[in-house]
Amino acid sequence: MSTNYANAVELKNVTKRYNELVAVNNLNLTLSQGEIFGLLGPNGSGKSTTLKMLLGLVQPEEGSVHVLGIDAKKDPVAIKKLVGYAPEAPHLYEFLTGIEFLDFIGDIYGMHTEEKRSRINEYLKALQLEGREGDMISSYSEGMKQKVALISAFLHKPKLLILDEPLNALDPRTARIVKDFLQELKQQGVTTIMSTHILEIAQAVCDRIGIMYQGKLLALGNMEELRRMASMPSSGLEDIFLKLTGTGDIKAVVEELVK
Ligand SMILES: Nc1ncnc2c1ncn2[C@@H]1O[C@H](COP(=O)(O)OP(=O)(O)OP(=O)(O)O)[C@@H](O)[C@H]1O
Ligand SMILES: [Mg+2]
Repeated sequence: MSTNYANAVELKNVTKRYNELVAVNNLNLTLSQGEIFGLLGPNGSGKSTTLKMLLGLVQPEEGSVHVLGIDAKKDPVAIKKLVGYAPEAPHLYEFLTGIEFLDFIGDIYGMHTEEKRSRINEYLKALQLEGREGDMISSYSEGMKQKVALISAFLHKPKLLILDEPLNALDPRTARIVKDFLQELKQQGVTTIMSTHILEIAQAVCDRIGIMYQGKLLALGNMEELRRMASMPSSGLEDIFLKLTGTGDIKAVVEELVK
């Protein structure tokens, strides 16, 4: 398996349709190694579909997808070995305990028992799940389930993290730990692509941001570039997002609602 690659992610002219609906429309996106990239966009704009195509979970009708130098169409299994994925609605085996589930995930990745155990314990401690690892996942809160999903993405030291709305259910302390952890991993050359609706997180954590709208990448760049594109030199990401996605007329919508 070749892991020599120029770019961590390379999507070229990628289109994905669900029957008549164009979920992703001629998308071009290249991420370099060690980059933290944020995918933003309104509900249904194609973020999760894009992330799933990176893993080969969804096949595009057109275009090519390369992840860590591997063609997602030809060898999706090789990609899955090297990538950590936390889906937006993770399906955990709820009849297992947290520790049983993570143990099982570690085994799937072929981790050695000692390394697996010590890494699981470190993560349980860092994310404050210690003491609850012996409880059934079905008894966990949403945030606790999200923590388990994140640990299973991090566990095997992936080269690329694909995180679909990873921080939504997390308390501020845990969200901060995960954000700082992503920065640490970046220093080790790990690339992250994540979707989020939490614009402050994108602004604070991501090197570059892509704003999707109706399957298209409307804007792409760092904060300064996005400000320039939106002709909003001193604005935050929220205002830029609302302007670019055409959902800025919020006052009128709210007035209509309270009539
Ligand atoms: N399995 C599917 N079958 C049919 N249509 C789908 C399927 N998955 C996604 N879609 C459609 O594709 C479009 C993009 O969906 P996607 O889940 O990628 O959006 P998203 O940007 O992740 O949205 P959200 O912010 O709500 O998570 C939507 O219109 C959605 O209805
Ligand atoms: Mg989604």
